[in-house]
Order: sequence, then structure tokens, then C-alpha cells
Amino acid sequence: MKIKWGVIGCGGIADRRTLPGMMLAENAELIAVMDANPEAANRCKEKYNAKYAFTKIEDLLSLAEIEAVYIASPVFCHKEQCLLAAKAKKHILLEKPMGLTTEESTEIAAICEQEGVKLGVAFMMRFHSYHQKMREIVSAGTLGEIVSARAQFTCWYPEIENCWRQNKTLSGGGAMLDMAIHSIDLIRYITGLEVQDATGFTGNQIFKYNVDDAGIGVYRMNNGALCVVDSAFNIPDDASVSKLEIYGTRGSIVAKGTLSQEEGGEIEVLALEDAGEYDAQQNRSTAMPVPVSVTFGNMYTKEIEAFGRAVLGMGEIPVTAEDAIRSQKAIEDVYKVNGASL
Ligand SMILES: NC(=O)c1ccc[n+]([C@@H]2O[C@H](COP(=O)([O-])OP(=O)(O)OC[C@H]3O[C@@H](n4cnc5c(N)ncnc54)[C@H](O)[C@@H]3O)[C@@H](O)[C@H]2O)c1
Repeated sequence: MKIKWGVIGCGGIADRRTLPGMMLAENAELIAVMDANPEAANRCKEKYNAKYAFTKIEDLLSLAEIEAVYIASPVFCHKEQCLLAAKAKKHILLEKPMGLTTEESTEIAAICEQEGVKLGVAFMMRFHSYHQKMREIVSAGTLGEIVSARAQFTCWYPEIENCWRQNKTLSGGGAMLDMAIHSIDLIRYITGLEVQDATGFTGNQIFKYNVDDAGIGVYRMNNGALCVVDSAFNIPDDASVSKLEIYGTRGSIVAKGTLSQEEGGEIEVLALEDAGEYDAQQNRSTAMPVPVSVTFGNMYTKEIEAFGRAVLGMGEIPVTAEDAIRSQKAIEDVYKVNGASL
């Protein structure tokens, strides 16, 4: 059984990553693409062999054969497009962040609920084989009780004229909302913990747009663990390390290069039988890394297949709206402590 898909806002990440991933999905068939930019719509129709290309969302939604839509337009378009898609009874896989604010995201979820369509949110990094393995290791208790986590995710993003992501009214936020949302989402996913208290800083040290060019979120989780996520638009890509670290009372996992749009990177797992006594010399032990093996795949393919299974009634929605809104709230709370000025 294949789900028949329409793609709304096909010219950006959809073309860069999700459509190539969809082409490999065993339960997906692309029917139509739509983009406000006709060149992008036509390009994607040709490239991915879609039957139709449109510049008006209504034309795509009027196709009865389309069962699900993937919405990958700029954030300020999400709510209106979800409303139209839900009313047309299409199931929706929506890019992160769902809406400009958690309030708007909650409204989107309510519309889908009311119209009886399934809504999933595209936190594709949960499908990275290493992140799934990390979740398995943590839930098996290998690290003991989780006490802290840290993640860094950045992208060099100098000023670009008329760029929606650099305009708070159109994006909802900058580095924190665009990048750190993945980090806190992964920390929640891997540890199974929830954010209890949030604080942090956002700023514009380098770039002059009206969204944050950097942000740090500091969290106390519901078991007391302390976590930090840092995000930046002002560190060059080649100078950034992209690290994700999870620490517990019996071990740790350090992942490098896994916060990415492609599966890859490396992880090191240290697991101790016993934490030992206090050592005034602070000698590091000779703990041997635990070997971990995974088979890399395509996160976007897995994301499309998993949402497709949920639509077919053969699985759960991988990332529900309620789940996604918790990650967004963790970011919004940091903006709030900064006076929501950025
Ligand atoms: N999960 C990921 O890997 C990932 C990566 C990047 C972006 N995103 C998310 O995807 C969404 C889009 O980001 P992007 O980087 O692709 O942006 P983008 O600007 O690169 O692309 C957006 C596309 O939407 C089109 N568009 C603009 N207004 C439209 C409208 N009203 N109707 C239909 N199409 C319209 C544009 O012409 C463009 O082709 C955002 O929510 C972003 O956070 C996710």
C-alpha cells in the first residue's frame, strides 16, 4: 500500500532533502508538487516525476487522489496551509517549527483534530540511526540515571536580503527556534525526560537582522538533570563541531557530527560497572568504549515511511503535535526570559 502525497512549498528543504528521501520510500507515491515560485514547482515536477505542478495550494488540495501532504513552506505560511489541507481532509506532515509561536502550533493541532486528519511533525533527526541507538542505550539503563546533556547545532547565516528566516514576523525566531529546537527535541527523545524549567540567553552579536544570531538554552529536566543547548548563525560551518553529549551516573555518550541532514558522524559510549569511590587524584579510569554498530540510512525516507504507516493505520504518528509543541515551548521559554525582544 502506498500513500499518495502532495508537497506544499516544494522548492526548499523538500527539494534539497525530503523529496529525494521520499523517492526511496517504499510506501510513498508523489502525485503533485506546489510552490509559490512557478520555477520551483516545475523543476520539482520534472525532477521527481510528479503528475502535477501548481502555484496555488487550492489546486493541489482539490485532487481527490492525494491522501497526505508534506508542508515545507516558510513558517509564517504553516497555519493557513494546514487549515486548508485539514479542511480538504488531507493528512499532514508539517515541517518544524509547527507555527510561529506555541499558541499558533496549538491552534494548528486543534484544527487537525477537529477535521479528523493526522498531523505529524518533521523532526527528522529522530530517525538518525545513532540517535535511535542512543535512545536504546539510555532506556536500557546503561548510563545509570541521566544527570546532564549538551548539544551544539549551528549554521553560518549572514544577512540575506528579504530572507524570511531573518525576519521574526515570518520565522518566529532565529538560531534558537531554527536550530536549537532540534537539539532540545533530541535530548527529550533520547533521554525520555521533559523540560521542567528553562532559562538562557539570546542575542545578536554579529548580524543585524531582527532574530537571534545565537542562543543558549539552559534546562532543568523533570528528574533534575541539567541540560544546555547552544545554537548559532554566527559560527562558520567549518569551525563548528556539532556535538551531542549525554551523561549519567554510570556512563556517557558523546556524538560528533550527528546533528546533520545526512546520517553519519560518530559516537563514543562509555559504560561503567561501578562509579567507584571519590578519587582525590582525579585519575581518569581506563573505561573501554562500548562498541556500537548501526547501518546508516536516509532520515527523510524513514520519516516519510513512518508517517505513511501511521496514515495507513499500521503504526503510531512518530512525532505528534503535542510532542513537537513541548520542544517549541522549551525554545519559546528562553525567548521569554530575554524579554521576547529577539
Ligand atoms: N527538517 C529539516 O531538515 C529542515 C531543514 C531546513 C528547513 N526546515 C523547515 O522547512 C521549512 C522551510 O524551510 P526551507 O529552508 O525549505 O525554506 P526555503 O526558503 O529554502 O524554501 C521554502 C520554499 O517555500 C516556497 N514558498 C514560499 N511561500 C510559499 C507559499 N505561500 N506557498 C507555497 N510555497 C511557498 C518558496 O518559494 C521556497 O521554494 C521551515 O519550516 C524550516 O524550519 C526543515
